[in-house]
Amino acid sequence: MAWSERQQGMLREMGLRVWSPAASPGAASRVEAVAAVPLPPASPPAPAVVPPRLAARTDIAGLDWPALREAVAECRACGLCENRTQTVFGVGHPQAQWMVVGEAPGESEDLQGEPFVGAAGQLLDRMLAALQLTRRVEGPEPPAQRVYIANTLKCRPPRNRNPSPQEMALCEPFLVRQIELLRPRLILAMGRFAIQALLRSDEAVGKLRGRVHRYQGVPLVVTYHPAYLLRNPRDKARSWDDLCLAAQVAEDDAVAQGPP
Ligand code: URA
Repeated sequence: MAWSERQQGMLREMGLRVWSPAASPGAASRVEAVAAVPLPPASPPAPAVVPPRLAARTDIAGLDWPALREAVAECRACGLCENRTQTVFGVGHPQAQWMVVGEAPGESEDLQGEPFVGAAGQLLDRMLAALQLTRRVEGPEPPAQRVYIANTLKCRPPRNRNPSPQEMALCEPFLVRQIELLRPRLILAMGRFAIQALLRSDEAVGKLRGRVHRYQGVPLVVTYHPAYLLRNPRDKARSWDDLCLAAQVAEDDAVAQGPP
């Protein structure tokens, strides 16, 4: 990947090193280091007691994009629906090859109905742009440069509190179906709740980053949540390394797949 002068300047400004495949000789071998984290089962086992509010949601697994979006908009499976302005489904091209998974909508996302539009989202967009990636649906970019962004939860928890295990379990089928429909070439899991949902792991981000995991066979790279990076800017360089690893995985995959 060639960096424009503007991009190089931006990366230097962020205190990030410039990525190029040649400059990341270790990345390819790290790609092989698949984590020893147990894979989530293909279809998570049904809970012993199905909460009554979930009982009506048996068909998520077969929904197409419009029906899934509608199911999310109408969802009343947990108490988060009581306080939301609107649900936050996801954004990006349905053929995007990258998928970014975050935690839950915050105040700005709840108001605008789009994930990662607040300060953390602006940082995320800058980091993606440095890799020539975009969430925009319009535009000439090929699928390899497109990112689909979704959250683990589709509704904002009050005062941005942590999601509860029950909220995560009830919302998970939506994310699972989004991944099935998108069939991304690469997943970037940001922060501990995305990691819990996708890798079934309570390990810290710091323990899981720097290698390639798998979700249902899809390569998955773990990194810090951008809101954490805003509070801990020293870890931006580590997060940039994670994105470079992800870019390397995506590039290796594109080579393996051959020309479109
Ligand atoms: N944090 C997230 O995890 N997701 C958003 O959409 C916004 C902030």
